Amino acid sequence: MIKVNDEFTKQFIKEEDLSKKIVEIHKMIHNKTGKGNDFLGWLSQPNISIQELERLKAASRKIRKESTVLVVIGIGGSYLGAKAGIELLTDPYKKDFEVIFAGYHMSDKMTSSLLSYLEDKDFSINVISKSGTTTEPAIAFRLFMNLLVKKYGKKADERIYITTDPKDGALRGIAISKNYPRFTIPKDIGGRFSVLTAVGLLPMAVAGIDIDEILNGAKKAYKDLLNEHNSAYDYAALRYKLYKAGKDIEILVSYDPRFEYLKKWWIQLFGESEGKDGKGLYVSNATFSTDLHSLGQMIQDGKRNLFETVIKVKEEEKDTIIPYSENNLDGLNYLEGKALSEINNKAFLGTLIAHNEGNVPNIIIEIEKVDAYNFGYLVYFFFKAVAMSAYLLDVNPFNQPGVEEYKRNMFALLGKKGYEDLANELKKKLK
Ligand code: PA5
Repeated sequence: MIKVNDEFTKQFIKEEDLSKKIVEIHKMIHNKTGKGNDFLGWLSQPNISIQELERLKAASRKIRKESTVLVVIGIGGSYLGAKAGIELLTDPYKKDFEVIFAGYHMSDKMTSSLLSYLEDKDFSINVISKSGTTTEPAIAFRLFMNLLVKKYGKKADERIYITTDPKDGALRGIAISKNYPRFTIPKDIGGRFSVLTAVGLLPMAVAGIDIDEILNGAKKAYKDLLNEHNSAYDYAALRYKLYKAGKDIEILVSYDPRFEYLKKWWIQLFGESEGKDGKGLYVSNATFSTDLHSLGQMIQDGKRNLFETVIKVKEEEKDTIIPYSENNLDGLNYLEGKALSEINNKAFLGTLIAHNEGNVPNIIIEIEKVDAYNFGYLVYFFFKAVAMSAYLLDVNPFNQPGVEEYKRNMFALLGKKGYEDLANELKKKLK
């Protein structure tokens, strides 16, 4: 279960009754009558058939048997969710299997380093692209495929797994012609809503995460958030009211660096779903207490146009206990016997009050604990919240027309066929 605490937000918002609007939007979501309604496949859970799940588990066992590294190639919604789950749910220092992400950037050096690192490793590839035409992963596929062929010759094909659209796209064509194992991203699920499909589940299964538990958490969230009064809508309503009150920057905060990619995934989910038609909250993130030593000053004392949403974990581990020191030279004996998580919690409470008194509203999202079940729950909670939130702003939550702009320019500058006129225009501008 997730609790949304508005105790540190209330004083900053004008009480506006949104309940009628929320009921209307709720009906619009569930009756699939709103903008972008053909992308609501994620709404009911699970999004994967038992057969596909079994195939996926068998593939993950095969990958783990034949390789020590899985290279996951994808960008945006085709990598952030899996990376979020793996960073949050696996031990950062003890890995019994390496999952490495590629194709989410075009850094020459990072790519060549990875290619050289893989030269003496047994590795497999999972290429993920809904459209099957995105440039960054397409280039990475060619490069890593090249290395696979060099290493394994004809047997290279046995190490390639494709996750793509069930009906369209170049990647699907490649998978069919080469007979690669193929997993599908349902037509009605967009990239940033796809982590609970093979997109997220295959890499997470290979990393050793209990994906059944992720799906159980998502199913529970689906049931808990099914009616018109639910915590995901409470969160959406709060951020909408804060936006109306001039707080148009939201910082998602965690007190644990393991949430780093969960927050990056959330940034894509909310930023890409809401930032259109001149509207939307600018979404950002911070890890405390780390970033209190960099962003803390700005949050406490800078321009008063931001608010924080804190992910608070109710049942924290208590593994690291502060030891007694004979000479107490560091003066820390007053902390002796305390768990590091208890100290972290005091940092949270102290920061909450300080920032709140500095006129920074704080929404607190409390999750039970860090495990696969709660990850699945939280992911679905944010899906439901962003649909409500974007519809409150009256924008289509499920498209991303703005993302196409840079791609057209890049293709033109690269000399891709069909972009000649644009290339001439751009060249004049760049002079
Ligand atoms: O949410 C989305 O649909 C996008 O951000 C995509 O995830 C991203 O652009 C990658 O696209 P694709 O999976 O088609 O390669």
